[in-house]
Amino acid sequence: MKMHEFSTLALTRRSIRKYQDQDIPLREIEEFIKIAASAPSGCNSQCWKFIAIKDKMILNQIVEAAMEKILEMTSTLKPEPSEEYLISKHKALSFFVKAPVVIGVFMTGYQYYDPVLESAIKAQGFRDEAMMKLFGHPDILSVGAAVENLLLAVHAKGYGACWMNEAAIAGVAINKILKMPLDYEFMSLIPIGIPAYTPREKKMKEFKEIFSRY
Ligand SMILES: Cc1cc2nc3c(=O)[nH]c(=O)nc-3n(C[C@H](O)[C@H](O)[C@H](O)COP(=O)(O)O)c2cc1C
Repeated sequence: MKMHEFSTLALTRRSIRKYQDQDIPLREIEEFIKIAASAPSGCNSQCWKFIAIKDKMILNQIVEAAMEKILEMTSTLKPEPSEEYLISKHKALSFFVKAPVVIGVFMTGYQYYDPVLESAIKAQGFRDEAMMKLFGHPDILSVGAAVENLLLAVHAKGYGACWMNEAAIAGVAINKILKMPLDYEFMSLIPIGIPAYTPREKKMKEFKEIFSRY
């Protein structure tokens, strides 16, 4: 692939939230997952699991679980959240149900390569999560790299997708709905389908705001 082809691919990828009513063949879904799983991962731990969901009942259960959690979280607010707010929240949380396939992304255990340093850190009282924070969250970064690979592969094939995290508020419930072990951490949903619209241009930060050099 030529550099300009890759630039075009990366620069034209956008989040897509409405899809045409057309299925995606399983072999294409599997190809996307293989490309996602070829991403770099800290200590090559490949700390990810993917699940393809087409069952609308399951997807609706995820929306309900997320809405339930949002209602629970906002129940103590005074004044209570408006009907209008809750309707817009439901809309923002449920668009993925109409996608022909939604990929659930989970983070699994991270294997650190240096048992000497790991035992020293643990002896200082750091638990797994605190140790990952100390190392700059390599587990989460690895899953992010896999998701970006997935998004680019989907885009290269002419599909659209949206990286969706908001449902993670109901993470534990989602593990149960999808029958995933509770020690896998639910990270994201990636609805995929043929785009049903062209997204508006997005506002970008000035280059000098995000880049500097010595
Ligand atoms: C980690 C992450 C979480 C996101 N979560 C959501 C989400 O829950 N719902 C949503 O509609 N978009 C979500 N997005 C998509 C962003 O809103 C989108 O990437 C951003 O606005 C830039 O637009 P673009 O993807 O079209 O370039 C998420 C993106 C990232 C990277």
